[in-house]
Amino acid sequence: MSDVDAQKRAAGEAAAALVTHGMVVGLGTGSTAAWFVRALAARKLDIVGVPTSQVTADLATSLGIRIAQLGETKTIDLTVDGADEIGPGLALIKGAGGALLREKLVWEASKSCVVIAEAVKHVKILGKFPLSIEVVAFGHTTTALRICDALAECDLGVAPMLRRRDGEPVRTDGGNLIYDAACGRIEEPAALAAALKSVTGVVDHGLFLDLADRALIGTDAGVIELEP
Ligand code: A5P
Repeated sequence: MSDVDAQKRAAGEAAAALVTHGMVVGLGTGSTAAWFVRALAARKLDIVGVPTSQVTADLATSLGIRIAQLGETKTIDLTVDGADEIGPGLALIKGAGGALLREKLVWEASKSCVVIAEAVKHVKILGKFPLSIEVVAFGHTTTALRICDALAECDLGVAPMLRRRDGEPVRTDGGNLIYDAACGRIEEPAALAAALKSVTGVVDHGLFLDLADRALIGTDAGVIELEP
């Protein structure tokens, strides 16, 4: 196993140790969240998982975790999920796996959220990792132009790129499209988040601000814990 995978696994296992019997647990998406789901399943607790994507739902079910959809359970006690970048104040960029909308819906419905990641994801300023922006398919090229304007308002002169796989536009679980914006440096995440949300056609974006209560970061020296 690579060092990065070992760090992701350690963070996932540390997060699984936070779960107790009877909890409703939000299950994140991505390779780090998958380590969490595997470690959680191994504990054989009486819990219900609320998945943030079909991929995670399939993984959890295959490992024997009982799942429910968002809204079918009491309030979610704890959500554990990965991130693409963890910046100051535990501001996050998420969405490389394309699950950002369902992730944000589950995070916002949770009493507590823990982000897990390998050491390299902990950064001094957000933006090196491209920011995912989910848009409805109808008129998406027009929406992309308006996203450009919103980025420019925030002094970010970048053109968002439609995400493709094997030449075809990637569709999210909700049937939407994703544009990625290589912002470089996001000096004011809150202003950018507001500007993007104001564009009709933008469903959501990968900036997760004021949502993470704790970060568990796998390092070569063990898992370190950060708070906002
Ligand atoms: C899924 O849409 C993403 O938000 C992931 O949680 C994020 O990209 C982290 O993925 P990895 O754990 O695979 O790095």
